[in-house]
Amino acid sequence: MHKSLKLLPMFGHTNGNRSAATCHYKCGNACLGETCNTSDNSYFREIAGAALSRRAALGLGGAAAGAVVVGHVVGGGATPAVADFGGNGSAGGKLAFTPIAPVERTVDTVTVPKGYQWDTVIRWGDPMFKDSPTFDGFVKTVEQAEKSFGYNNDYLNIIAEDDTHGLLVCNHEYTNEEIMFPEDWFKANAAEARKIAIASHGFAVVELVRAGAGKPWSYVKGGKRNRRFTGTTEFKVDGPAAGSKLLKTVADPSGHKVLGTLNNCAGGTTPWGTVLSGEENFNQYFVGTGSSVEKRYGIPTTSERGWETVDPRFDLNNEGYANEVNRFGWMVEIDPQDPTSTPVKHTAMGRFKHEAGNISVAKDGRIVVYMGDDERFDYVYKFISKGKYNPRAARQANKNLLTEGDLYVAKFTGDTEAEIDGSGKLPSDGAFDGTGTWIPLTQNGKSMVAGMSIEEVLVWTRIAADRVGATKMDRPEDIEPNPVTGKIYMAMTNNTQRGTEGKAPADEANPRNKNKDGHILEVTETGDDAAALTFGWNILIVAGDPSKTSSAYFAGYPADKVSPISCPDNVAFDSKGNLWVSTDGQPGTIGYCDALHKVTLVGAERGRVEQFLAVPAGAETCGPVIHDLDNMVFVAVQHPGEGGTFAEPISYFPDFKKAGARAGEMAGPRPSVVQVYSLIGKDGKPGKDGKDGKPGALPNTGR
Ligand code: FEO
Ligand code: CA
Ligand code: CA
Ligand code: CA
Repeated sequence: MHKSLKLLPMFGHTNGNRSAATCHYKCGNACLGETCNTSDNSYFREIAGAALSRRAALGLGGAAAGAVVVGHVVGGGATPAVADFGGNGSAGGKLAFTPIAPVERTVDTVTVPKGYQWDTVIRWGDPMFKDSPTFDGFVKTVEQAEKSFGYNNDYLNIIAEDDTHGLLVCNHEYTNEEIMFPEDWFKANAAEARKIAIASHGFAVVELVRAGAGKPWSYVKGGKRNRRFTGTTEFKVDGPAAGSKLLKTVADPSGHKVLGTLNNCAGGTTPWGTVLSGEENFNQYFVGTGSSVEKRYGIPTTSERGWETVDPRFDLNNEGYANEVNRFGWMVEIDPQDPTSTPVKHTAMGRFKHEAGNISVAKDGRIVVYMGDDERFDYVYKFISKGKYNPRAARQANKNLLTEGDLYVAKFTGDTEAEIDGSGKLPSDGAFDGTGTWIPLTQNGKSMVAGMSIEEVLVWTRIAADRVGATKMDRPEDIEPNPVTGKIYMAMTNNTQRGTEGKAPADEANPRNKNKDGHILEVTETGDDAAALTFGWNILIVAGDPSKTSSAYFAGYPADKVSPISCPDNVAFDSKGNLWVSTDGQPGTIGYCDALHKVTLVGAERGRVEQFLAVPAGAETCGPVIHDLDNMVFVAVQHPGEGGTFAEPISYFPDFKKAGARAGEMAGPRPSVVQVYSLIGKDGKPGKDGKDGKPGALPNTGR
């Protein structure tokens, strides 16, 4: 990384290859840098198992009212190309669709199946409160950022509380300064711009309304529960490491109070209606001291964001701030129902680059949270609560469940390990499969790792997991239990360093060297119980474009009859238990825009991948939410146009207006939450308004 990054990281970078910008902003160039996990923990495994678990249904109440603001941009209605393997897709039933053909990576629109259209629910910069300043594409303020929908929406949930009222909860993972700000303005207002960036991170809760089931949602400006959490919102720290000396700074001698949440990536919604959100690539915001512990977490020693120029806590070399970085990398819980509640960072669930946080309820009622550490050669974790979930208790009674419990890390053992040669060729038993064990890191409030206190295990969880011999994985992203079957699905996005010199070789759970396309594991807990400490596993999908990659594998389904898929990232389920997978990185690997795919898991079609949508140029598909009973799908379109700049956008999503179209309106892209719904109304007849029947205007791609 060159020095100019200190002021203006990516201005001038217009090569259209989003990977450079993605790497810089999203994870602080983790891919380009050294491998964080240089531990030599090995790969000897044993154990047996197989099974299931169940996830409780969500129970939410309440309704919303207020003035409606609509930021709709109607798209779709065009006839997309259909996949060349044809067929009538998931015809019949709810959310029937004919899979779309993969979309060439420069195409700048949301592509949806025939018979569907899309529009935005809310965009970056849309005002959330009655006194929110209006979004101005050219001149921004901290106040405007704090009171508006943040940047780079990631984890998403759309909670339909009844047919006409709902709640949107969404993470704001990171910022793309070179797209957000005109270069001259940034140069002249660098301190303000950095504070705006800090305020554009975090989390949003927004009330929704609509005319009826199956109709598109609009967000409520000034909704009673609307709330923004930012990089400066006060959080309470709880659990065994709260108040430890490792969490104290000169500004917080208690070690209980942290300002802000950063790089919130995937998450999950709890059975008691709160939302979990993982603090992922927090390393990039800090200037480190170069200690070996910081190295294990990828903390750079030179500035990547320049935030230390506006807040001394971001430089760990500053007196009294050495521990500030230990206050990020946690699983966060917020209560979207109570806008006055203090959000919490749970130390009991460990500290790493938290991606997912999805819950199963064990047979005895304990809460199990599945989590990934999204870095090459890092690990899969689960947390088992001490207390038991009581569905009949007041919400408040369940809100302490994640404060105390045991933390485990996964070890995977293949049953045909000796045959794994890194090529991705299936072993002689016809499956990448085996057994696994959840190795305890903490139990009953005590450290299970020799030489480390429980505070150390929880604050330096990666190091603890290295010592117990966890299995190095290919970037564990979203991990989620299937609410219908209880099986757990684990997306491994990719790992091009697997099997390269000095790095861990392929194993049965990560069977390809230089794994650029990723894979998806299917895990069955022993005895059908999420609290089991052993499990069985198999690889459901070895991703890739089957026309180019012979190792692509789809649970035995014919590879010439699936949509190409690469870099699986977020996972979700529909009401029937079908798996939906969004991607992060297809443009760089198979040349197509990132996508959302449906994967059938049972019956003769098991392993069939069908592409439902594609996001615009430069974007990643995040936070898929599948409301198949409502015939609706939602995605967070993250970093549209990444790789371009404010002056030279490569995407005009979602407004598709050229520069100067209107004063204060930026030409370039705005990360947005998109809803996809049927052209046909619930009454079975085409509607009149372009939202319920008539195709909307074709988006102007602005090219
Ligand atoms: Fe923020 Fe692991 O993706
Ligand atoms: Ca095998
Ligand atoms: Ca992600
Ligand atoms: Ca998910």
